[in-house]
Amino acid sequence: MNKLVFPLFALVIIASGIFTLNSSFKVNPDQDEKAVQNPMQTLLKNSCYDCHGAGSKNEDALESLNFETYNDLGKVKKITTLKEMAEVVEKRDMPPKKYLSKKPHAELTDEQVKAFIIWANTEIKTLIDN
Ligand code: HEC
Repeated sequence: MNKLVFPLFALVIIASGIFTLNSSFKVNPDQDEKAVQNPMQTLLKNSCYDCHGAGSKNEDALESLNFETYNDLGKVKKITTLKEMAEVVEKRDMPPKKYLSKKPHAELTDEQVKAFIIWANTEIKTLIDN
């Protein structure tokens, strides 16, 4: 009897663990939706905002690119910025290597780099078309 009960018990524990883990991703449905709507927002937040976003004190970084003021840029400037962003991400110049050694979670996967370039090009196309 015991021989059967223990594995069953273990299975229930594992299954409920997986269930809890799954549902914990949906704790805040609003946030979830935003992340789906704009996965790039999450990527930028994880990998770029420390230096190029609100709260950054990195003058050099902000001078090159400031996401706080990005929306105020004119069309041409936005296109140039998107091109630069795609370029530095493709070359893996950004996020800087030195930073990644301290914050490895900010490193982009090959898939993320590809998705980023596609996103930047789509944004450029939308800007050109409108
Ligand atoms: C550790 C801080 C840091 C992080 C994180 C970071 N950058 Fe930068 N970035 C800089 C600094 C400093 C500069 C200006 C000096 C330079 O070009 O190296 C810069 C410059 C740039 C430039 C201008 C490059 C040029 O040729 O003028 C772009 C575009 C850029 N970053 C995009 C990004 C993107 C996109 C991310 C996220 C994927 C990112 N950066 C993450 C610090 C950072």
